[in-house]
Amino acid sequence: ERGLIIAIDGPAASGKGTLARRLAANFGLPHLDTGLLYRATACALLDEGRPLDDIRAAVEAARGLALCDFDEARLRTRELGEAASVVAAIPQVRAALIDMQRGFAGRPQGAVLDGRDIGTVICPQAPVKIFVTASAEKRAQRRALELASRGEKVDYAAVLADVRKRDERDSGRSQAPLKMAEDAVALDTTDLDIEAAYRAACEIVEERLALAGKV
Ligand code: C5P
Repeated sequence: ERGLIIAIDGPAASGKGTLARRLAANFGLPHLDTGLLYRATACALLDEGRPLDDIRAAVEAARGLALCDFDEARLRTRELGEAASVVAAIPQVRAALIDMQRGFAGRPQGAVLDGRDIGTVICPQAPVKIFVTASAEKRAQRRALELASRGEKVDYAAVLADVRKRDERDSGRSQAPLKMAEDAVALDTTDLDIEAAYRAACEIVEERLALAGKV
């Protein structure tokens, strides 16, 4: 019996990270926030003073990633979210990060992964896939609060513009665009607080597991 894999995808600031963390804790599964891999790749490039479209350097950075070398607070900044979505559009960078993500998902204890292409590309066989959405305005509001709580000075209009730009870039790229897997369940969190969204996500997991005959 293989471990349970839960795939969580959705646009920037949809709440997928929080849901993934809580589901992982609840089901006793390890969690990988795959956005951090793209953020760390971008961070390595910027630190080396390379442009984000230097494909060779980007692939090398992605291959050599050790997440523990990075300061998570820095990776979570607005600047790196934006830079991550630029390097994430490079097919060779995505290819360089596939094995690490599948390796994480393939461990016997199972895993929760969140990102943009987990249900479609990384773990198409996952029995549980949730596609988390929310309106761009609501996502910008949440992201602005989150950034402010980390001490970053933010302006709501600028964050909303970022969210829209990233949506466009992530949905429009040719390789692994942000898209709901056919067998994913959509969860719109626009009008849900964290507790309600979490309860809804747990229900989806239980339902899917029942369908798969796992409980
Ligand atoms: O989720 P997060 O905002 O940390 O992701 C940062 C960027 O990394 C996204 O805008 C997206 O371009 C990219 N990403 C991706 N595929 C994933 C996770 C993140 O392309 N699985």
